[in-house]
Amino acid sequence: MGGASSHPAGLPRTVRLDEIDSTNAEAMRRAMAGETGPLWIVADRQTAGRGRSGRPWQSDTGNLLASLLLTLPPATVACAYQLALVAGVAVIDAIRADGGLITGPVPRLKWPNDILIDGHKAGGILVESTSGPGGLKAVIGIGLNLVSHPEGTALPATHLRRHGSPPARDKILAAVAREVAGWLLRWQEGVGFEAIRSAWLERAGPIGEACSVHIGGQRVFGRFAGLDEDGALLVADEAGRLRRYTYGDVTLAP
Ligand code: BTN
Repeated sequence: MGGASSHPAGLPRTVRLDEIDSTNAEAMRRAMAGETGPLWIVADRQTAGRGRSGRPWQSDTGNLLASLLLTLPPATVACAYQLALVAGVAVIDAIRADGGLITGPVPRLKWPNDILIDGHKAGGILVESTSGPGGLKAVIGIGLNLVSHPEGTALPATHLRRHGSPPARDKILAAVAREVAGWLLRWQEGVGFEAIRSAWLERAGPIGEACSVHIGGQRVFGRFAGLDEDGALLVADEAGRLRRYTYGDVTLAP
């Protein structure tokens, strides 16, 4: 296992590991042991990378596997899930920054936080949190496929190198860390969520895009109708009724 902690000017503290079960799990363990962050944990490999809804996250060497540990005031518990939207905006901006890490297709978001390139999943975000006397410890885990992607996933996947010559992982991590820090400042622990909401919408598909939402064994077909003021997904179902989702898997119509 590696473990060097670095703090070059302007960058948050970063722990680099060769291998770990999950950078989110490691961040949570450190939080329980008293670490308050901000601290990035990045690993070359994960042996038990985790995705949303208990799914595994394939974690090949060369891809970005990183988590940011933060401590937030207790009052932010109710809006901590918005961190996934904050991070989604930041990752898109990191890919688009400095002339873009890829050429051709424009990366976009799919609710709540899938990073799509040409309709294929290139990355995802998993936010986990726990509250205690010291405040809310939140972990933002980011997986970005740089050099490889899993086969046979429900939503076909891709990786950045398929679409250009992205720089080395650590440069991409630096860009992601910079964008996450910038968007966290704008989020202002929830007070500035309106800026995140509109930035997220600008980086997502168009209003009216056909989609379905899968939740609790049911699938509802409809059209994307935006986000509400808290970040919940709005979908107009086939009967024209507006439905609000705080959880679920969204599939875009082909
Ligand atoms: C998703 O299902 O879309 C979310 C995937 C999140 C994966 C990242 S990889 C780094 C961090 N550590 C984990 O175990 N998961 C997240």
